[in-house]
Amino acid sequence: MTKLTKKVVIGNLKMNGSLHFNEKHFSDIKSGVNDFSDVDIGVCVPYPYLFQAQRIFQKSNIFWGSQNVAKDSDGPFTGEVSVSMLSDFNAKCAIVGHSERSTAYCESDENIALKFSALKNKLMTPVLCVGETLIEREAGIMERVVASQINTIRKNYGKNIFADSIISYEPIWAIGTDLAASPDQADHMCSFIRGLINDTENNNVEGLKIIYGGSVNSKNALQLCGLESVDGALIGRGSLNAEEFIKICQIVNSI
Ligand code: 13P
Repeated sequence: MTKLTKKVVIGNLKMNGSLHFNEKHFSDIKSGVNDFSDVDIGVCVPYPYLFQAQRIFQKSNIFWGSQNVAKDSDGPFTGEVSVSMLSDFNAKCAIVGHSERSTAYCESDENIALKFSALKNKLMTPVLCVGETLIEREAGIMERVVASQINTIRKNYGKNIFADSIISYEPIWAIGTDLAASPDQADHMCSFIRGLINDTENNNVEGLKIIYGGSVNSKNALQLCGLESVDGALIGRGSLNAEEFIKICQIVNSI
């Protein structure tokens, strides 16, 4: 597992792109971020484009990954893609538990925990998404919701499973809405997550990155990623425009 030591910017392309679009998009991103040495940059692509991502991003400062993975290693699981299949394309990371999957495809916290562990077993970096709905925030129970998402993993595997992993705090109300969390909200929740996992001051989990996702763009990236508690960002729409994505990476590189 390559250690992530800097702030991190990861593009989540979601179900977008085509062979034709990606060819230019990936190449533009590759050349645009070539000089940025103070940020770790990744792109999570749809499964069919892993080979293309590998071909274009190998020998660059960009890592690549997927947006989901199977909890099982092989067998009769129609439509699933295993961790070792991702490894065949040198994928470094996989998003697990994104709200667009957990809501639309009824993914349970238990399943997400199994996927997280399957990735760690093969030395890949899980990018675990956690976050609350607007109703839950208005009810003031966002910490409880996020704690329960994280504690399902922790109670099954212990806190050290989070070493060399990424947790992305993604309030569901901020995704795709242009209503990013305020710096105070992001700071509070990312600090809360860190405290939840590192329960004692001098026994911190190593290599854990806690990033923020939800309507991040080049206008708010500095405010959000500049926070000490926020180790970077997971970018949806902003990763579909190479110029915008490069700008965000440049801002985080300069922090
Ligand atoms: P947007 O940046 O489009 O709001 O999406 C965020 C997200 O879902 C990242 O995983």
